Amino acid sequence: MGDLTYIKVERDDELAIITIDRQDKLNALNSEVVREIGQAFDGVRDDDSVRGVILTGAGEKAFVAGADIGELATMNSMTGVDVSRSGQDVFRAIELFPKPVIAAVGGYALGGGCELALACHIRIASEKARFGLPEVGLGIIPGYGGTIRLTRLIGLGRAIELTLTGEMVGAEKAQTLGLVSSVVAPDALMDEATTLARKITSKGPVAVRLALESMYRALDTATADALGFESSAFGLLASTSDMKEGMQAFLEKRKAEFKGA
Ligand code: COA
Repeated sequence: MGDLTYIKVERDDELAIITIDRQDKLNALNSEVVREIGQAFDGVRDDDSVRGVILTGAGEKAFVAGADIGELATMNSMTGVDVSRSGQDVFRAIELFPKPVIAAVGGYALGGGCELALACHIRIASEKARFGLPEVGLGIIPGYGGTIRLTRLIGLGRAIELTLTGEMVGAEKAQTLGLVSSVVAPDALMDEATTLARKITSKGPVAVRLALESMYRALDTATADALGFESSAFGLLASTSDMKEGMQAFLEKRKAEFKGA
């Protein structure tokens, strides 16, 4: 995977745990961190032994406290476009990742950190997590897909309020808004994320992948085309040995052993 300075990639059986570790800056995303996040995901994409990813931030205080403001302060209108684009590309690759990606948010998820969590498929938070998009207070807007993904996730009115006020919300409010799916005690965060990930990785990997693809495609596609994709995926799954195994296991009242084929 090459040398990574700010990212740790660990294995817990079939899970890859990707940890952003730049604790002296609350895991803020400079361009190197963004690049390394992309590299870490690339490194586990084609590894068939990895069936799911948990993305988290190192330390007690932050998931990611945003894009690196020191670095952003030097941009001009041309480099600004590049900064936004390169972050968007990495975050889009996470959104389109063929294995489930769970964000385990233990502290600040602000600006680019909130956008990073939004690019993951599921978000769970500790009681200490804080979410917000403070960009307008810095004279910019969320530029890593946040204006689009937050709106899709929690609805236009609530997304506008969060984005225009730049206010932070705690974990409980984030759950009420639909920004996170569950809130757990800080000590339980990684265990809960692992349990949730394993619930998913015990299912058929090809089915999980195609379910994700069908749902994300539907966001950008006319209903008739989205339904067409769903049917094709359904048909494709009927040709997998995993479908035979899943149904056979049900009929034989045993746990299915999926192979991802
Ligand atoms: N970019 C660059 N550095 C950041 C950062 C960011 N987004 N967020 C935190 N840091 C740095 C601080 O500058 C500080 O560095 P220093 O020790 O060299 O001075 C270090 O991380 C610790 O942060 P600090 O502000 O001292 O911690 P705190 O507990 O007092 O406050 C926050 C925590 C998250 C409220 C505060 O750091 C903050 O507001 N950060 C910026 C959030 C933001 O606007 N993000 C969106 C960017 S687009």
